[in-house]
Amino acid sequence: MSCLIFFLVPFLVCGGAFGSGRNGKIGFDENYKVIWGGDHVVSLNQGKGIQLSMDKVSGSGFGSKMNYGSGFFHLKIKVPDRDSAGVVTAYYLTSQGERHDEVDFEFLGNREGKPYTLQTNIFAEGKGNKEQRIRLWFDPSADFHDYRILWNPHQLVFYVDNIPIRVYKNKSNVGVAYPTKAMQIEATLWDGDSWATDGGKAKTNWTFAPFKAYLQGFDINGCHLQSSTTHNNNFACASDKFWWNKQQFWQLSPTQQVAYHNVKTKYLTYDYCSDKTRFPVPPLECSYNY
Ligand SMILES: *[C@@H]1O[C@H](CO)[C@@H](O)[C@H](O)[C@H]1NC(C)=O
Ligand SMILES: *[C@@H]1O[C@H](CO)[C@@H](O)[C@H](O)[C@H]1NC(C)=O
Repeated sequence: MSCLIFFLVPFLVCGGAFGSGRNGKIGFDENYKVIWGGDHVVSLNQGKGIQLSMDKVSGSGFGSKMNYGSGFFHLKIKVPDRDSAGVVTAYYLTSQGERHDEVDFEFLGNREGKPYTLQTNIFAEGKGNKEQRIRLWFDPSADFHDYRILWNPHQLVFYVDNIPIRVYKNKSNVGVAYPTKAMQIEATLWDGDSWATDGGKAKTNWTFAPFKAYLQGFDINGCHLQSSTTHNNNFACASDKFWWNKQQFWQLSPTQQVAYHNVKTKYLTYDYCSDKTRFPVPPLECSYNY
């Protein structure tokens, strides 16, 4: 349980590398706009925070005004508390149009007192089916935590409070699909009770509505592209003038590798790579991401 505390210390020491200095000073309106359920979105503290809510009528969500081709994205999130079974809080990157790319954090709610599951997934060239699930070493409804996505020409990394929980390498040279399209950042709160909790058996209990998620940290470290259809294969967003593309972000550091291994061994509860029923032969990328 507390092992991760030991790993936290070196991350804090080198925390400057994550460039979160302006975090919290940028207002929501500067980089984001409401995309769904406008009357269920409340701005807090002069736009420094956002409350998304969901009731029987509607969920809600917001998205970035710009499209991005690489970056080190982050939001601070506090998910709905009490009985949140069936409720999904999602934070993701997504491209528009056909054969879409997507990189997902999905917090799957649970009955009161039972732990949340954090699911991640990746779509490349329109193909998803790459789910992994972890349990968290804290209660994500009790406080804000940092959730980050690094996306550069070398790797995608999901971080929880600077601890890498998932790595997806760019192995397009051997035929693994890798997200290449311009993507927007979105966060949504929605009813997923057909699948999210106990495989869809635990339904949303509407007596607890409205469900509320809180989000902060609206500065964006990303390379923006003018058009949502721009492919980033013009390499504009691959330049190492962007700090997240520099060599230190091409792979995990030895310390991060240890923390990542710890998550894999202690917190991973589902991995499509080892689901023999779905994939008798593990997908190609599975041998590269450990
Ligand atoms: C993935 O890596 C290949 C080289 O192996 C490179 O040509 C390509 O641009 C990279 N993809 C992205 C989206 O950066
Ligand atoms: C919903 O929660 C209330 C309050 O705890 C409880 O009385 C009720 O039985 C629950 N309903 C369902 C369908 O689980």
